Amino acid sequence: MTLKILFIGDIMGRAGRKAVSAFLPSLREEHSIDLVIANAENLAHGKGITRATLSEICNAGVDLCTSGNHVWAKPEGVEILQQPDTLLLRPANYPPKTPGVGEKVVAIATKSILVINLMGRDFMPTTVDCPFRALDAILEKYRTTPLAGIIVDIHAETTSEKHAVALYSDGRVSAVVGTHTHVPTADERILPGGTGFQSDTGMIGVRDTLIGVTYESGIKRFLTRMPSHFEIAESGLTVFNSILLAIDSETRKTVSITRIQKEIII
Ligand SMILES: [Fe+2]
Ligand SMILES: [Fe+2]
Repeated sequence: MTLKILFIGDIMGRAGRKAVSAFLPSLREEHSIDLVIANAENLAHGKGITRATLSEICNAGVDLCTSGNHVWAKPEGVEILQQPDTLLLRPANYPPKTPGVGEKVVAIATKSILVINLMGRDFMPTTVDCPFRALDAILEKYRTTPLAGIIVDIHAETTSEKHAVALYSDGRVSAVVGTHTHVPTADERILPGGTGFQSDTGMIGVRDTLIGVTYESGIKRFLTRMPSHFEIAESGLTVFNSILLAIDSETRKTVSITRIQKEIII
């Protein structure tokens, strides 16, 4: 059996949510998608998550959300992380006792998929525990669990660290997809051991901006090196960046990996 999983990159504020609502229902139908995972760290006005914004994308067809360094920005998001039936993960390699969980098993009909959220350490604003050891510990925890696939979101700044996580995982997980930079990479492929990989899926947000922040508000930091307030771009030509994975439920390997990128004026 082949399972179709769509992974959507960082959804940036209102424009990102609107684009997801515009494209996802028809994409799910067109490609017979079984599971949709999205990175939600920027969901509520660019930083954090609220109940209303999470409901908006879940109503559009997102089944489970991963996140990253911005997941803590809104108190509601931290509350959501701690609900027993939460649909929101935070990176698994935050230190012990951090609220929330970093992995979850989701059911697709009779099959189970393990979704793991990790965060990198190089050039990231927050220091976290080792993502490689965190991955090993999670895979050991689920070693005897019957799984049809394992998907990893590695939320990290550098392509090298994301490549390292992917090659370290090759043959042990179905796919490793990167998030955080908001810029999609053209390196999607199947690694020698059968793990699908893309360094970064890219954002769902307004295109002609500084990764979702208005040029007018963001450029000041580059010109003066002073802290400045970032305005999230809420309308304009919006890009939708995602990656479609087809996974063999018997071997748990990726059999195809395809970028699905669209544009819409919000
Ligand atoms: Fe982000
Ligand atoms: Fe991030």
